[in-house]
Amino acid sequence: MTNKEASNESLRAVRIAGTGSYVPEKILSNQDLEKIVDTSDEWITSRTGIKARRIAAEGEFTSHLATHAARRAMQQANLQSEDIDLIIVATITPDTLTPATACYVQQALGAHRAVAFDISAACSGFLYALEFARVAIAGGTFNNALIIGAEKLSAFVNWTDRNTCVLFGDGAGAAVLTPASDEKKTGLILSTHLGTDGTKTEILNIPGGGSACPITLENAEQHLAALSMQGREVFKAAVNAMRRASETAIEKAGLSADDINLVIPHQANLRIIDAITDRLKIGKERVFINLDKYGNTSAAAVAIALDEATRNGAVQPGDRILLVAFGAGLTWASAVIEW
Ligand code: UT7
Repeated sequence: MTNKEASNESLRAVRIAGTGSYVPEKILSNQDLEKIVDTSDEWITSRTGIKARRIAAEGEFTSHLATHAARRAMQQANLQSEDIDLIIVATITPDTLTPATACYVQQALGAHRAVAFDISAACSGFLYALEFARVAIAGGTFNNALIIGAEKLSAFVNWTDRNTCVLFGDGAGAAVLTPASDEKKTGLILSTHLGTDGTKTEILNIPGGGSACPITLENAEQHLAALSMQGREVFKAAVNAMRRASETAIEKAGLSADDINLVIPHQANLRIIDAITDRLKIGKERVFINLDKYGNTSAAAVAIALDEATRNGAVQPGDRILLVAFGAGLTWASAVIEW
């Protein structure tokens, strides 16, 4: 059953009523990284497509990035803090292990009516948040949800490991979800799809800092609270899962790949994106890319890209957008939105 059909069966259709994003001011270029680790602009550009990434200032936390993005999304949706009744922050780099980063965002916004919690689904987190907020609004439990993908990955990167430190960046993207109506249906969520494969947790993780491996004086030198990745394994899994997730969301929306005006994929690696869109036979002119500027911002990536694409004219009214993501877990997620 598509979401549109569901809306005819007493569930409410849900739309994206506003988007916002925020990236920190500081730019770290490939040339800057050449001075830190044994790498080159040529290697990073040809293997990933990344040219630069943003790095949060000292004292600037994930919740701060999230709050900036949230304010912009609320402004576009024309909603005040007291209108928000649900806040979900998708992040793998929370301010603290507890409470949830969403609670700090609630405090900063003064959104005192909102239920607030985090989702940990890595790079798929924003689309996981989209789906759970959609379901909550469709069923009538909540009305105005703020979903945010926000990361300060620079705090969880081993800056001596060239395999990973060149890939990631900081930033946040947000969206406000509300019930759709005949008059207000821009941003209608046509279909969604989520998946998880917990058998490959070891190929992409942050091994330390949790209850399995607390950081101690003895292991402090080993960078255990930093992202660890088997790049080639993740690459292969990402291509397969994102292609399948794309096909599923397109099919659930009752569409074909030809009907998709713009693909907004997770921004990890240009070669991954090319492999997926080639297989879907979607030309490069229908793919939104900003990883050259920001690198991989995990849960924030699709959210930032959605905000930029919809604000800069890459999306026209009536366009069908495919959002698709993949990350640690392994997790994957996709959605088709009608703008
Ligand atoms: O957001 C979650 C999803 N994450 C992803 O989707 C990331 C998926 N993986 C990837 O994007 C790619 O696997 C990487 C960009 C991480 C790596 O690209 P690759 O083409 O798979 O390279 P590789 O790991 O096979 O390494 C090739 C060579 C190695 O040298 P040798 O062993 O062939 O001599 C690496 O040591 O490149 C070397 N290398 C580097 N050289 C210069 C690895 N990192 C660097 C670097 N600069 N930064």
